[in-house]
Amino acid sequence: MKLQSLRRTALGTLAAASLVIGGAVSGHAADSPQPGAAAEPVLRDLAAAKGIYYGTAVTASKLNGTYGAVVGEQFDSITPGNEMKWESVEPTRGSYNWSGADAVVDYAEAHGQKVRGHTLVWHSQLPGWVSNGSWTADSLRTVMNDHIAAEAGRYKGRIDHWDVVNEPFNEDGTRRQSVFQTAIGDSYIADALRAARAADPTAKLYVNDYNVEGINAKSTALYNLVKSLKEQGVPIDGVGLQAHLILGQVPSTLQANIQRFADLGVDVAITELDIRMTVPPTSAQLTQQKAEYKAVTNACLAVARCEGVTVWGFTDSDSWIPDVFEGYGAATPYDENFQPKPAYYGIAEALGWSDGGTNPTGACAVTYTVQNQWNSGFTAQVTVKNTSTAAVNGWKLAWSWPAGQRVTQAWNATVTQSGTAVTAADAGYNAAIAPGATATFGFNGSWSGGNTAPTAFALNGTTCTA
Ligand code: XIL
Repeated sequence: MKLQSLRRTALGTLAAASLVIGGAVSGHAADSPQPGAAAEPVLRDLAAAKGIYYGTAVTASKLNGTYGAVVGEQFDSITPGNEMKWESVEPTRGSYNWSGADAVVDYAEAHGQKVRGHTLVWHSQLPGWVSNGSWTADSLRTVMNDHIAAEAGRYKGRIDHWDVVNEPFNEDGTRRQSVFQTAIGDSYIADALRAARAADPTAKLYVNDYNVEGINAKSTALYNLVKSLKEQGVPIDGVGLQAHLILGQVPSTLQANIQRFADLGVDVAITELDIRMTVPPTSAQLTQQKAEYKAVTNACLAVARCEGVTVWGFTDSDSWIPDVFEGYGAATPYDENFQPKPAYYGIAEALGWSDGGTNPTGACAVTYTVQNQWNSGFTAQVTVKNTSTAAVNGWKLAWSWPAGQRVTQAWNATVTQSGTAVTAADAGYNAAIAPGATATFGFNGSWSGGNTAPTAFALNGTTCTA
């Protein structure tokens, strides 16, 4: 409750912050952290200060080494990616294997993390004895209730949120014809929620689905379900929006959709966020992904009943996307080597972090000198000075040429040009510019008519003095 009120006071600033999403700058210094850079953000602390949690799906067997360290440091909720699914815990009737699920819950408790239990009733990753059994409504209801009693009962008091029912709808908003739906009928969802409440009275009980992030036929069906469950007094506490998104397709109605569920009197969580793109990714795609992770996080922050966000794997090395969506990947906030991607900084920025003054406005000075000029060509040298007190780690210097000059060849930087807009990116070995230090690069260019020097420069999107 204390956190909720803290959030409300922050909402005005959040709304203002969300206006600059589209202004995310490529080559942001903090996107490639180097020794000496501003302190790295800690997502779990930032999220807690805003009154939400930030979580990740995990693979139990990987919870050690660098993977385990990042999960423990950065996230305050974890979801077992597979270990609590029916086929994992009850592969044959009445015989249970809890090893993976236990490992996740134990890890969470050792690291002060919430657990999202995932998932009790789902048509997929369901053992053959359930999906292929021949059932009456009563016999399958008994099996389902027994499964819920066993699993939710085992972890009673240790699970914060249960995805009790997963993916009950088709895209058009009709019920998915799972074995539960066909054998038991519409009421299986209410039955499952009641069984879960009986087994673990303190866990918040969710229904979770995908393609329900924006306002559409499927999310409206989910909305109507929740409304009817509430009216019947069925225990339902929240709605999970999976959010397996495609780059460029964050629904514009995301926040409004979260809000309409909140207005029904349930909590909302983003439960499986990833934003996939074609691979290999370009830096423009990664920059866009940053803005989209930021936008999704902001949408949750903007609605008081949105409890938190979980990414479906925090690293590209542990993402389901490449296995399932051919040609797509790079969907998570960390790369395959556990290095934070721009998306990670997008999340951090939505949560109120800023890079602590790396490249503040006016904190760079540029000298542009034409060293040599002949009939149609010239050679120029550019020196960028870091006049701030924070290190620059990775840079792009942008300018516009007034008189139609064209760059032909560059050294100590990669220089690209589109129309009159020129961008010089560091050459790797000169990416770091300590406070007070400089980086210098040069190029040959062509000119005709005039060779006036540019007067305005921007380093990583920030205006420099010329
Ligand atoms: C995925 C896992 O990440 C994969 O490892 C597994 O092979 C298939 O399932 N919606 C869900 C998740 O609710 O349980 C799914 O997880 C991804 C889609």
